[in-house]
Amino acid sequence: MTVPALPAAATAPSPMGKGTLSRQLVLRTTALVALVTVGLSLFTALAIFQILQNQLDEQLQAAASRPPWRTGTGSGTGGTGGAGPVDPSGAGLIRMDLINGTWWLNLPDGVTKEAAADLVSAATARPSTVTVEGAGLYRVILAEGGDSTRLVGLPYSAVTGPMTNVLVMAGLLTSGAILISYVAARRVVEQSLRPLTRLAATATQVSNLPLESGEGHVPIRVAPGDANPASEVGRVGLAFNHMLDNVEHALAARHQSETKVRQFVADASHELRNPLASIRGYAELTRRGSEELPEDAAHALGRIEAESERMSALVQDLLLLARLDSEPTLDIRPTDLTEIVLNAVSDARAASPEHSWTLDLPDEPVTALADAHGLHQVVANLLANARTHTPAGTRVQTALRAEDGWAVISVTDNGPGVPPEIQGSVFERFTRADVSRVRKAGGSSTGLGLAIVSAVVHAHGGQVALESEPGRTTFSLRVPLA
Ligand SMILES: Nc1ncnc2c1ncn2[C@@H]1O[C@H](COP(=O)(O)OP(=O)(O)O)[C@@H](O)[C@H]1O
Ligand SMILES: [Mg+2]
Repeated sequence: MTVPALPAAATAPSPMGKGTLSRQLVLRTTALVALVTVGLSLFTALAIFQILQNQLDEQLQAAASRPPWRTGTGSGTGGTGGAGPVDPSGAGLIRMDLINGTWWLNLPDGVTKEAAADLVSAATARPSTVTVEGAGLYRVILAEGGDSTRLVGLPYSAVTGPMTNVLVMAGLLTSGAILISYVAARRVVEQSLRPLTRLAATATQVSNLPLESGEGHVPIRVAPGDANPASEVGRVGLAFNHMLDNVEHALAARHQSETKVRQFVADASHELRNPLASIRGYAELTRRGSEELPEDAAHALGRIEAESERMSALVQDLLLLARLDSEPTLDIRPTDLTEIVLNAVSDARAASPEHSWTLDLPDEPVTALADAHGLHQVVANLLANARTHTPAGTRVQTALRAEDGWAVISVTDNGPGVPPEIQGSVFERFTRADVSRVRKAGGSSTGLGLAIVSAVVHAHGGQVALESEPGRTTFSLRVPLA
């Protein structure tokens, strides 16, 4: 089974990329800080505003409690006034006194009598804020007591002026706090999540290990610094290391039991060879010793010989596969494949003169990194198949060539082809077509020939392939050039 490789993004996400935990943590922290500081600033500003306004109102009350001024400009019904006294607060005080039906006006520059008349109707006994034409916002109060009524107004700039400063300061401080919290959160988050990034890198490395083969050794661990149980990430690292220990143990145990099974198959196959040789020997002896055997006995003897021959082939193939599985004892070295192919084809020609054998060799020798004995067996198996699974008269062409760093050997025949239903699994063990077809051709089919081909070629780091349709079947293999 092959595990698909992790997508590239999983191996190297950008530290503040969209969707990353870092980004979310930083953004959320900053948002929280922003919320708190803005709230605090607004609350403070509101408190200062209240204090300032209360102060202004107290001044207003104090001014209103002073006795009436019979100075200023008289207006309204009857009476005229002289020039008003100097404004005691010096800050645009409005003071109007209604004495005996006459309004005595003390107005700062720019405030007209009409504006003052409007004020009388707008003001109430409680301080209120109104716009005075030509002089901006004013805090005014209408005090009625005893024989006189008076209206006092003070410029509201005593509140709005300091408030502007307060708001500007608050704005600056808030922005500063948000900026600082963003930078700090980013630093802290990046620093504390760095071990997690290293953990992900380690996990990716492990996921790319070829664990399906070998002794199951997992040589990668999270560094001790990142596996410190004091921190949350460290606990993940520690758990990860324990998991890898566990996996390693399990793989080692599996490898051990597989080795045992392989050893058993190898031993069993080996042990079966001697009794089989005896059976064949005795059968041959019986046939030779008694000149005239009854027909059915002769037939049974023939079957014994044929089946024990088939079993010998099976045992031999099993032994070979078991050995290839456990420790491929291939002697891989630069080998000229020309001779191997040549020998295999002449053996096949001798075995079946009814087939037509052709050979396509390049002018230059093709030297591959190969085990001569193993590759001979591979080519011999392919040629044996072309011989036993095709009728007499079939043309079999064997070709050798060098191509892109590979030595390629192909065996093509114009026989009936590999049945479509087994084409997908033909390199697996015990896959073979309807046995009667082979029996007719006189071969001994085990279904192991192509499994051996595949195992040997893969042990070389090479590949095997099949293309087959009725009239044209090509088995090809490639092993690395020397
Ligand atoms: N050249 C070929 N033409 C047709 N069928 C083939 C050819 N080579 C292999 N096969 C099919 O593939 C099956 C598996 O081959 P193999 O593994 O060598 O087993 P075996 O030859 O012992 O049957 C064969 O049984 C046969 O059906
Ligand atoms: Mg075969």
